Amino acid sequence: MCARCREYREAMGDAGEVLYSAKAFASPGFLRVVAAEGLGVDVVSAGELGLARAGGYRGESIHFLGNNKSLEDVAAAWEARATLVVDGFHDFDLVRQVLPAGAGLRCLVRISPGVRPDTHEQIATGQLDSKFGFPIASGAAREAVERVLAEDRLRLAGIHCHIGSQILDLAPYRRAMAAMLDFAAALRRDLGLVVERLGAGGGLGIAYTRQDRPPSPGQFVAALRETLERGCRERGLRVPALVVEPGRSIAGPAGVALYTVGSIKEIPGLRRYVAVDGGMGDNIRPKLYGARYEALLASAPAAPPTQTVTIVGKYCESTDVLIADVPLPELRPGDVICLPAAGAYCLSMASNYNGVPRPAAVMVREGRARLLRRRETLQDLLAAEVVEVPGDPPALPMVAVDGSEGAQTGLQRPLGE
Ligand SMILES: Cc1ncc(COP(=O)(O)O)c(C=O)c1O
Repeated sequence: MCARCREYREAMGDAGEVLYSAKAFASPGFLRVVAAEGLGVDVVSAGELGLARAGGYRGESIHFLGNNKSLEDVAAAWEARATLVVDGFHDFDLVRQVLPAGAGLRCLVRISPGVRPDTHEQIATGQLDSKFGFPIASGAAREAVERVLAEDRLRLAGIHCHIGSQILDLAPYRRAMAAMLDFAAALRRDLGLVVERLGAGGGLGIAYTRQDRPPSPGQFVAALRETLERGCRERGLRVPALVVEPGRSIAGPAGVALYTVGSIKEIPGLRRYVAVDGGMGDNIRPKLYGARYEALLASAPAAPPTQTVTIVGKYCESTDVLIADVPLPELRPGDVICLPAAGAYCLSMASNYNGVPRPAAVMVREGRARLLRRRETLQDLLAAEVVEVPGDPPALPMVAVDGSEGAQTGLQRPLGE
């Protein structure tokens, strides 16, 4: 993970900024390491901002995105003096309610460049038909920029886009950069505005299986820089600072999910189900995006496969399948199976479905292990629950609905009075 952060930083040099997209995995202990590598961070909620601050992040190196921010989100962004990425006209109303006049909070405007990458449709975001970004085509992008310029609570630092995730081909990024530069050229021509920062988003894909051949972070940044420099030359524009915000390509390859084998069910001539002590509660990606993983026997990762099995989880859903038809050596209950490339969008999307506590996260470096997040317990499951046992006094005294002392219906009076 540190090597990937460095590869991003070195490829970027002084041409711009690299942020880590915390949605991929936002444990503060992990964010601390990313921050130490010199990366900023992007967050999408007041909660994620709180995790980033616990990870040591401060100020404008935190970019606050989101297509439906709340008042609390904007207040948290202002309090942290983060960079706000405006995504929807509703943001202007929130900004006026939360920020004092003349605040001048640094912001970028999120543009929808009208580019559809070749990835799963649920993780494509750059096309016109998307909930994210102001479309260029409809004129909304232009209007958003003009409204920022007219709002002294905001200070325009540049424009931003993000076309999708798990992208294995760099061509759509080149198309998005071209669309963004055409937009920047129109802003300069019509408004005399110089775009100083251009956010290209994240989205670089990783290898989940042996067949996947993603570009490296260095190739990704080099392609963006080259497209930007050439595109600016062609349009007579000053080259803006480039901002990238990868998540998956930093956290993903760094994570290995470990599962213990429990029940094994053989249906002769049909399928062998191997059930593990996790599943869709800690990794929803196979079901959400049809994601495919490899699996290895942890005690003998190089052991040749002898069978084809389907690895399923422990959740009460038939759809709780982690990997269908995967080759593995002989397995027995108690064996540990590992799934490589499980560091991104697994634990950060984990749930407590079926009352299953979420697993621990451990960081390993040069043979030394450090707990990032402890395994959850029943106490964690109960922490936010309001448990009322019949006969207990209620937490808050109840009053008669009509306010009269004489209203004596037992239900409306404080119990025990
Ligand atoms: C706006 C934005 N930026 C960055 C990312 C990170 O993408 P990835 O983890 O694929 O690099 C996402 C993820 O969807 C995103 O929505």
